[in-house]
Parts: sequence; C-alpha cells; structure tokens
Amino acid sequence: MQVTVESKSGPFAFPCDPRQTLLYAGLQHGLTLPYECATGTCGTCRARVVEGSVAVDWEDAPGFARLNRAKGDILMCQARPLEACRIRVPALVLPRPERHAVPGSHAGTVQSVRRLTPDVIHFDVALAQPLDFEAGQFVVLEAPGLIGTRAYSMVNYQRDAPVIELVVKRKPGGGFSDWLFDRAVVGHAVHVFGPLGRATFHPEEDRNLLMIAGGSGIAGLMSILARATAEDYFKDHTGFVFFGVRSLSDGFYLDELSRFVAQSHGQLEVTLALSHETVATAEHPAHPGIRLAAGWVHEVMARSMQGRYANVGAFIAGPPPMVDGAIRALITEGGLSAAQIRYDKFG
Ligand code: FES
Repeated sequence: MQVTVESKSGPFAFPCDPRQTLLYAGLQHGLTLPYECATGTCGTCRARVVEGSVAVDWEDAPGFARLNRAKGDILMCQARPLEACRIRVPALVLPRPERHAVPGSHAGTVQSVRRLTPDVIHFDVALAQPLDFEAGQFVVLEAPGLIGTRAYSMVNYQRDAPVIELVVKRKPGGGFSDWLFDRAVVGHAVHVFGPLGRATFHPEEDRNLLMIAGGSGIAGLMSILARATAEDYFKDHTGFVFFGVRSLSDGFYLDELSRFVAQSHGQLEVTLALSHETVATAEHPAHPGIRLAAGWVHEVMARSMQGRYANVGAFIAGPPPMVDGAIRALITEGGLSAAQIRYDKFG
C-alpha cells in the first residue's frame, strides 16, 4: 500500500506492507522519519492521518499521552496501513539517512543465553544475514507468540556482524524478559528489525568520551567501548564510564570493563555507582581497575567530572529519569551543548 508523508521538507511516498508499521517501512525505504524508542513509549514518531486509515497495534502505548487521537494522531511505530494513506509528520524528513545503515527486517535465532546476575541475562542472536551497525545502535525484537516488541542495544561491535549480543534486565510482568528468563529459548526464532538509533560513536569526531549508564543501559556503551578499544582510541583520548546499579552484587560486565581499562593506556576510568549500598573501599574488591562510589549515577558523575569536561562527547543510556538527570547535570554543571550529548531512553 502506498503511504505518502507530508513533512516540513516536502512530500515523500513509499510502499508499506499491511503487516509492517509505517515507521519501519519508511525507515526501510531510507527516510529519516522521527523516532526514538521505536516501541511505543516516547511519542517522538507522532503523525496525523489526513487520508486513509490505519490499525493500531498497542492502543495503550504510553507514547499516545500527548496526542490527539480524535484528530487522527498516531504513533508511526504502532500503526499499520489498512489502505493507502496520507500522513502529516511535523518534522524535517530527509530522503536518506546521513551515516547510518538503512534498517531492515532480519530473521534471527537465539543462539545462547548466559545469566549475569539473578535478574540480568546476556543473550546472543544469530542472524540469517549479517547486520551492519554503528556502535551505540539498537534493534527491536519480536518473538513468535509474544505480544509487543522490545528494543535492545547491541553489546558487541563488528562490521557485518553474523551474531548480535544483547542484554536484558528482568522486568516484573515484562513479556519478553519473562520469556527469556523462564523458558528454554535457545534455538527459538526471533524477528529482528534494525539497526536503529542515533546515539552512535564515530571516532573521527575526535572527542573525549563520557558515558553514563543505568542497569542494562550499559549495553550500547559496551559496544562503543569495544570499538574505541579496537581502534586504540584511548591512546589519544580520555574516557569516563559511570555505570549505575543498586549494589555491588548487581554489577555485571566487570571482567569486560576491566579489560577495556587495562587496554586504555591509563586513559579510561570506570566507576560503578551504587544507589543502595555504601562501600568502605574506593575500588571494587574483585576488580581493582574499577572504582566504586555511592549514590545515583548521574550525581556521582557530576561530582567526579567537575573540571574535566574539556572536549567531551557524552553518551547516556538507561531509565528515563536517570537520562533526564544526567542531561540536566551535563548542561547546567558541565556546560555541554545539546550537540555534545547523545542518549537512548529505554522505558
Ligand atoms: Fe514511536 Fe517512540 S518512536 S513512540
């Protein structure tokens, strides 16, 4: 079915299979449609149907909160066309993404699952076709028989990756996380759409790296660290990682983070911020390269970074309140401009 987008930069048209959302079809055809979460929570992909009709996947999606449904407002990531449509998108839309691979649909199989803490799982998905992605990007996963989609950032970094590594934190009542935690899922098929997300790392931007993550938000930052380490980026740049968890026993990827520190020419600092535990030592007892601090991760970051913001590019990933707190601190205390801050909010 033909979908016509009226945008601030003119009209564009693309075909959309009725089984596909308007957002995915538009992105797959190379349009830079506005989006953030791609899963119905943020509201960034809003549009208004001015002709035709659509079916809505998730009627109660939080992203609808500030939309006027009576006037035809929709979330493009939740709408599938029932007939040819004309929609109005209140944003600039460009015909080609500037530097990211065009996202597409991929068949995948859960290849392995590894428990990192009682409520965090690392899992690998083998893809039928390799996926090219930038460090910091994410994919949206669907599993047969499960309602809804979930966004996960890649932990690994590799050009044309045959396998993507992902991490999930168990959420009470979270359909996908329950599926991963409670079932023998190795060998099960999943549908992957991506790569998505613009919070990406590009070494040629030549900035010192400041990374702030809450919980499983560390995933995309691990991918950035993997690329930076592979390219010996810390030979000429500094890096600061602030990783927020509740207590010492909730930390994960600490072996991997220690290895990044060891390969950084002394230029990478990793701090585990503990929101619900005070600790007597300044270093992790089992991982001497990792610093410890008590408090919310964005507050620990703001205390530690005073006077060290020169030429910094910041990456933030985690729960929305943490991301908002970190952005506020970076702008008000660090003096960073919006262009120096990239983030992903996963609700
Ligand atoms: Fe559609 Fe976030 S991109 S609601």
